Amino acid sequence: MLRNRRCITMPGELVVTTEILEIDGVAAGTLAARFGTPLYVYSARTLLDRWQSYREALAGMEHQICYAVKANSNLGLLRLLAEQGAGFDIVSGGELERVLLAGAKPGRVVFSGVGKQDWEIRRALQVGIGCFNVESEAELVQLGCIAAQEQIVAPVSIRVNPDVDAQTHPHISTGLKENKFGVPLQAAHELYQQAARLPSLRLVGVDCHIGSQLLTLDPFVDALERILHLVDRLEAEGIRLEHVDVGGGLGIAYRPGEQSPAPRHYVDRIRPLLADRKLKLICEPGRSLVADAGYLLTRVILLKPGPFKNFAVVDAAMNDLIRPALYEAWMNIEVADAIVPEVQPLLWDIVGPVCETGDFLGKDRVLSLAAGSLLVIRQAGAYGFAMSSQYNSRCRAAEVLVEDGQARLIRARERLEDLWALELLPEEHG
Ligand code: LLP
Repeated sequence: MLRNRRCITMPGELVVTTEILEIDGVAAGTLAARFGTPLYVYSARTLLDRWQSYREALAGMEHQICYAVKANSNLGLLRLLAEQGAGFDIVSGGELERVLLAGAKPGRVVFSGVGKQDWEIRRALQVGIGCFNVESEAELVQLGCIAAQEQIVAPVSIRVNPDVDAQTHPHISTGLKENKFGVPLQAAHELYQQAARLPSLRLVGVDCHIGSQLLTLDPFVDALERILHLVDRLEAEGIRLEHVDVGGGLGIAYRPGEQSPAPRHYVDRIRPLLADRKLKLICEPGRSLVADAGYLLTRVILLKPGPFKNFAVVDAAMNDLIRPALYEAWMNIEVADAIVPEVQPLLWDIVGPVCETGDFLGKDRVLSLAAGSLLVIRQAGAYGFAMSSQYNSRCRAAEVLVEDGQARLIRARERLEDLWALELLPEEHG
């Protein structure tokens, strides 16, 4: 018998009853039964909705939204975004090949990262990416040399480290002077002058990225003001840039009741700063496009109540979702399909089977659980699967995309033999 099937319609597409949760019209229990758990499920509708909110916020401004591929690099999601005309922010040769496979226009790709290798730069030049976001003098020289060899003029932006406090977790803060990213403002000014003398480089823009999961807008405004000061100074010296790339970083609401700034609020704050300038705005959102679109489904293997703590051991672990272990991130965990009704709620730590104390997905959650209960971890679309590993020789989870009420496998669950497929025993050397 089902307990109180009260329906709550969440903003978007999520319909929760006390017993059953649906993702875009497909019951979580059906998805778990069909594809197994742990399972990442993505809602195409939510992703496209988040994309649209950026588009609407930026309407009337010359702009390019370059999705930060690192947040979730599944080809199925990249394809959806490429079909919308998205640009992409990449940080490796691997991400470049992914976006090309997904149908991206190379001219809409920007290449970030503090350590680009020669082969990555060469390939990016050959396919004609839109911009190299250069992070050091050494990289500028490296890029200049490779571009000269290839006889291709490289489009360049210099990543400035504006030294602003993003007020976020220290591991995901990037715009302070002690962080490894970008170059300080004064040094950037000198680098632009140096770059202007290299015939194999074309100076097209300036960029920054101050951190991730920002819930306040002031740091973005601070950073942009500092960068525009540099843009004006360069212009007075005859170096005219075409774009300013403000990076990504807009946070999302992980906890119920948490307020996240909407793209519209964000753009309303930065639009006035750009009003009198003929600069195209580039942004590199990752999390704010894909986090809400993703759910991690996991089943309770067994319950381990005790005098000090109650543990619910589930089949997903830190190798599937490392954010709680790495950043003490709080992720929303709910019962998606109770299996056994009428269970009293208790305080549980939701932990995985990995042999580490740090292997937890949530602590002190009041939930009604039984062995076999299906749980859903929300806002798992960003830095979830993308940061997963095979630690403890665990197969990586499958990924499913729900589109128009239809669920489609977009990454198969790894098989045991995939775990050692690339390993070689002495006898295999022949
Ligand atoms: N652009 C650059 C140059 C970046 O380094 C990043 C993220 C982004 C854009 C996208 O930022 P977003 O809009 O997603 O905040 N694994 C961490 C987040 C690391 C972010 C790294 N850089 C987490 O799970 O919270």
